[in-house]
Amino acid sequence: MSFSSKITFFFCCAILTFLSCKNEVKAPEQNTATSDIPDREWWKEAVVYQLYPRSFKDSDGDGVGDLKGIISKLDYLKSLGIDVIWLNPIYASPNDDNGYDISDYRDIMKEFGTMADFDALLKGMHERGIKLVMDLVVNHSSDEHEWFKQSRSSRNSPYRDYYHWWPAEKGKPNYRYSLFDINHDAWKYDTLTDAYYLHYFSRKQPDLNWENPQLRKEIRNIMKFWLDKGIDGFRLDAFTFAAKDINFPPLSEGYEKDFMPYYSMQPHLHEYLQELNREVLSKYDVMSVAEGAGNTPQDAHDLVDADRHELDMAYPFECVDIAKSSGYSVVHLKEAFSKWDSIFSQKGWVSIFLANHDQARMVSRFGNDSPAFRELSSKMLTTFILSMRGTPYYYNGDELGMTNIRFDNIEDYNDMPTLNEYQRLKKTGGDLTKFMEELKFSCRDNGRTPYQWNASNNAGFTTGKPWLKVNPNYTTINAAVEDADPNSVLNYFRKMIQLRKKELTLVYGKYTLLDAENPSTYSYTRELNGRKLLVMLNWKATAAKANTGIDLSKAKLLLGNYPAPLLDGNLRPYEAVILELN
Ligand code: NOJ
Repeated sequence: MSFSSKITFFFCCAILTFLSCKNEVKAPEQNTATSDIPDREWWKEAVVYQLYPRSFKDSDGDGVGDLKGIISKLDYLKSLGIDVIWLNPIYASPNDDNGYDISDYRDIMKEFGTMADFDALLKGMHERGIKLVMDLVVNHSSDEHEWFKQSRSSRNSPYRDYYHWWPAEKGKPNYRYSLFDINHDAWKYDTLTDAYYLHYFSRKQPDLNWENPQLRKEIRNIMKFWLDKGIDGFRLDAFTFAAKDINFPPLSEGYEKDFMPYYSMQPHLHEYLQELNREVLSKYDVMSVAEGAGNTPQDAHDLVDADRHELDMAYPFECVDIAKSSGYSVVHLKEAFSKWDSIFSQKGWVSIFLANHDQARMVSRFGNDSPAFRELSSKMLTTFILSMRGTPYYYNGDELGMTNIRFDNIEDYNDMPTLNEYQRLKKTGGDLTKFMEELKFSCRDNGRTPYQWNASNNAGFTTGKPWLKVNPNYTTINAAVEDADPNSVLNYFRKMIQLRKKELTLVYGKYTLLDAENPSTYSYTRELNGRKLLVMLNWKATAAKANTGIDLSKAKLLLGNYPAPLLDGNLRPYEAVILELN
């Protein structure tokens, strides 16, 4: 049965809007023959929604989002039509890096609630057909984890080799770059045992020693603990850093920041992952997603080639890193996404995303957050994410078209590496004005401001003082307003999800880039079992023509972000259309 040949665009929109307003999202019928799609997996067909718990919903007025807050919004989450929630870390943590510094892997962060809250959350999600993927942060722990306290206490501690120590009598260890340290030095001297420990992130995030089989066993047991509770998968944080050259040889000049080839992603990473897969992941019906994709396309492929039994999907950063404060080229963006599609065209699987908790807001980086174009460009980007081959990852708040907050004062920022870098520049006489301007575009706190629920105080996020300021535009950009508006960014997101669920061609279909050199538009076809869809997107604020070379006279509209599209390749600013060709 064809989706659009039987109904008009307006009828289709009305139905979908009705469904979404009633918050009753029914699984649509799929309209591509499903019997001969090879390697079908639930996690390939899922839409993943990334939820940043600190900023989602506060239930107790302490200004910090929490698990009970999420529970209170489960029906809303269900109404989106998403299948999986990836929850950023909720484990016990002193919060040097907002939960990415874990002090107890089997406990819940006090600000977020209790294990009973977690169990209730998981149950509530499963009752609504939503799966839960948790962050697994095991390249490093917190320095307040019991393992590190023990490890630090004596050179003879049985936990000493859980971390990387370098005895001071051997002299200063060879330089390693730290991403978050104020001096960018990954070695921290500790007087207690007269030795240096390694931390690729902050001083409070010492790197775990994966060479130690006992440590790897602890990690496997932690994974089993959560999987036995019924969670549905893991996102492996910073895992490429786990496999190091532990002889720490000197680096050639100029290569200090070149982690991947020189001091992470070492070949035994694959052995570690295969061990995790064999001993843990393969025993459950769960998904596993890498953070990053290694150093080369071959690395990426090897990490997620199903025959190698490592992880399920890669999460490459090349595409999302293209947006710069100075702008970006649409041609370059197309090349990057097309390259990653081709890496996994035969084997392996990729994630498609334009934002996450480490990035500023999607519409402010890739679209246009001016009043004239915020909604249109948000919808266009949503069309893109949900019509590409790969599992879409959608970051919370982007479905409302939330924008960068652009703080003027450093005091308003919370992000530890940002504050460290500011202090470093101040100390070394760097250009602070330029740095502050750059933060307005790229700082990850832009993407972490509280979720905008409604037009009441603090956007309905908290009754207390929010841990990070709420974006003042919450009075007009919020879930309540958008829920009631059939043409909102939010309701477009819901429609697009329904379309993807109905069209397995959008999940598995072959991707072919068209009109590659067009500087404004991004067009591609998706083809599966004789069905062919065409996506045409204008990524610019001026009208443009997509020259696809395809006869569009018989094309039918499946979804678009403007009323009455022309269907001839002429696209208005940020216009998006998905057409059925056959
Ligand atoms: C990657 C996470 O996404 C980021 O938020 C965190 O700061 C680093 N890993 C360190 O864990």
